[in-house]
Amino acid sequence: MSYNPDLRISVDGRAVARAFADHIVQKLADKPEGPIFWALSGGSTPKLLFNLLAEEYVHRIDWSRLHFFWGDERCVPHDDPESNYGEVKRLLFDKVPVVQSQIHAVPTDLAPAAAAKKYAETMVRLLPMNSDGLPILDINMLGMGGDGHTASIFPSNMKELMDSKEICAVATHPESGQKRVTMTGPVLNASDEVSFLITGNGKTQRVAQILNREHGAQDFPVAHVNPTSGKLIWWLDKAAANEVGY
Ligand code: 6PG
Repeated sequence: MSYNPDLRISVDGRAVARAFADHIVQKLADKPEGPIFWALSGGSTPKLLFNLLAEEYVHRIDWSRLHFFWGDERCVPHDDPESNYGEVKRLLFDKVPVVQSQIHAVPTDLAPAAAAKKYAETMVRLLPMNSDGLPILDINMLGMGGDGHTASIFPSNMKELMDSKEICAVATHPESGQKRVTMTGPVLNASDEVSFLITGNGKTQRVAQILNREHGAQDFPVAHVNPTSGKLIWWLDKAAANEVGY
């Protein structure tokens, strides 16, 4: 399968967040009816995005049409500072007209394996499914760690999670040992759109390695995310894009 991400380069992280916020406005306009299923992620650029949406996009978005999921979640209570859901609640949901029935957080009150199972059931119940029995997200927003991980698919668990038969799985953070629930590779690749938000000069080399398909690029989970029939968009700032010719 060809690998040809659509690159959208902005001047800095704030501009990336703004470009992506405009993209959400456009997605809603392009599909004028029905829900948009959007998987969120943790990370620094999404934080800028959530702040911006709450500050400047409250009246530009029909919030009632957005349904939120998480590509991965840390197995901590929702009010823990490490919780991806908790962060979005604080920065965005508390400030915009979104109701609880639109928010589909990972049930971290359960043990990790039970949480992954229940979250997969929720996705199957709420999302449209493809012919392979995989749920389809309209937008799967992801980040990339310096080690090339995405969601909670790390180089260390890539083999099992990229080819998993499950929809969600338990992952262990390779350094902290923290348990996470993550969507698996097949689910990421069943999305109608995968959008990576990647900023900062800490990511420059990794971005170049993956986009230029350099030797060793296949060792990074991000390199394996390429939706089968959906779009792949990389939203970069100039610092992250520096070595791919921008
Ligand atoms: C998480 C994430 C993770 C993140 C990357 C990038 O919960 O930790 O979902 O995959 O997106 O680590 O994070 P930064 O944008 O902060 O570099």
